[in-house]
Amino acid sequence: MKHAFVTGFPIKQSKSPLIHGYWLNQLKIDGSYKAVELEEDGFANFIAQLKSGEANFEGGNVTMPFKEEAFQLVDERDAIAEKIGAVNTIYRKDDKLCGTNTDAYGFAANLDDLVPQWRPNNDSESKAVVFGAGGASRAILYALIEAGFSKIALYNRTLSRAQTLADEFGSTVTAYQMDDVNQGLINANLFVNTSSLGMNGTEVPDLNFAEMAEGAIATDIVYHPLKTKFLENAEKQNIAIADGFGMLLHQAVPGFEHWFGARPDVTKALRDKILDGQS
Ligand code: ATR
Repeated sequence: MKHAFVTGFPIKQSKSPLIHGYWLNQLKIDGSYKAVELEEDGFANFIAQLKSGEANFEGGNVTMPFKEEAFQLVDERDAIAEKIGAVNTIYRKDDKLCGTNTDAYGFAANLDDLVPQWRPNNDSESKAVVFGAGGASRAILYALIEAGFSKIALYNRTLSRAQTLADEFGSTVTAYQMDDVNQGLINANLFVNTSSLGMNGTEVPDLNFAEMAEGAIATDIVYHPLKTKFLENAEKQNIAIADGFGMLLHQAVPGFEHWFGARPDVTKALRDKILDGQS
């Protein structure tokens, strides 16, 4: 029987056990996936136990606040983890613990599902506006560059944080102060909120989504509530919207495949089941 974990601090709120439990059941795999509650300073010891085999896991997911520590402590990291600077998925390869990051994949796969036209067409200029330059923003920048956006305007309250990311991700990305975001929306094809604004229904700035290009899309990685104020405002201005809940489901797919050897599907039934637990 194969075992996988999710760990973070706190971890009780994690929906990952429900997601992986659903797939184990559906695919009739003899395996387990459970939440491991660690103290805030307990992660290094847990990794040591994984390495020694004392903790009997094929691998698992790592969430806040351990993603950067996981990045430091695994034996090997893939190119995506290197670029994003954080590890959310650990698996074994030969005798090594390997770390990857599946957030960029999850983000892109969710949009492929909900708004497949989000991918730029290489014949014309394509511009994305990214709001927020925290930890989550790095995976989104990675995904947008991979998808082929020719310009990415990155807006943040703290300009220096946006500038650091722009320097790291290269000339496609330009950093701006948050207050100028309406300027960036003019003729943009995609808007992504990666900041924590709007979480639990808190207020967000009222943006001029109507200035975006024809066929433009707005999405939000905040999914509580499902339709955030950013998305509500965009929809009122006739912009197509895609909620961020599917990112959570899709980012789980590569890990499951690593640990249990089968690639699971993200279906409407899974989405409904996991959403059921969200008030
Ligand atoms: P995460 O890892 O989830 O991205 P984070 O690293 O704390 O979390 O980043 C949170 C993001 O939300 C940042 O872009 C932050 O802006 P700053 O870099 O200026 O802190 C943004 N954010 C949080 N609260 C905000 C607020 N009240 N107004 C504007 N931006 C806010």
